[in-house]
Amino acid sequence: MPELQELPEKNIFQAYGILLLQNNHRFVRKLKKHYTPSIHGHKTWNSSFLLMDYFLHNETLEYQQNIMELGCGWGPASIFCAQHASANLTGIDRDDEVFPFLEVQAALNEVEVATEQASFEKLTKKNLGKYDLLIGADICFWEQLTKIHFNLINRAFQSGVKEVVIADPGRDPFYELAEKCLDKYEDCDLLDWYATEPEHFEGEILHIRNSR
Ligand SMILES: C[S@@+](CC[C@H](N)C(=O)[O-])C[C@H]1O[C@@H](n2cnc3c(N)ncnc32)[C@H](O)[C@@H]1O
Repeated sequence: MPELQELPEKNIFQAYGILLLQNNHRFVRKLKKHYTPSIHGHKTWNSSFLLMDYFLHNETLEYQQNIMELGCGWGPASIFCAQHASANLTGIDRDDEVFPFLEVQAALNEVEVATEQASFEKLTKKNLGKYDLLIGADICFWEQLTKIHFNLINRAFQSGVKEVVIADPGRDPFYELAEKCLDKYEDCDLLDWYATEPEHFEGEILHIRNSR
């Protein structure tokens, strides 16, 4: 009897050691019949790869127990962190229609990422205080989000969060947020960064450490 051959899976790609689904993957097509993310959470965004590359170049992930991803979408950055750090990951998003996509991608990579429906503006100090590190990829895309994120970062540091790392392709509201953080926080870096997987992509990293 001929040996059974594993069928090659189509429309999956790899970046920084994790597997992700392309928009035309059969699971994505099926999920899209039932779930319709509506605040830009309809795909994996490239800024997530900036975070992955950045974390491979420093020790940020080494000392974190609990990590929250803000505006996680399909969760690529959370999945990477769950695979590369012995930390508990929680992805929050206002749009709960993104979570089935995150869950399928987490299962594909055999990692656990908890999910919670929440808005940036509604995250209280009590919610935030459970985390050591907050991360976010491409979450500062509207003008009104600059102030919302600045207030969120302030609440996070008041509640004991140690570090916040946000990646962005370089949108104006993100630069405005970076300027406010550079003014207020002593230990704050704005860095040009690029990712090389799944392809070359350039953007920015904002890394703020709580020096209180
Ligand atoms: C551009 S997508 C980025 C998704 C993911 N971080 C990535 O890199 O693939 C922005 C995400 O932020 C979420 N979002 C937008 N406004 C939000 C808010 N006020 N509170 C929480 N999440 C929000 C959207 O639902 C979406 O999933």
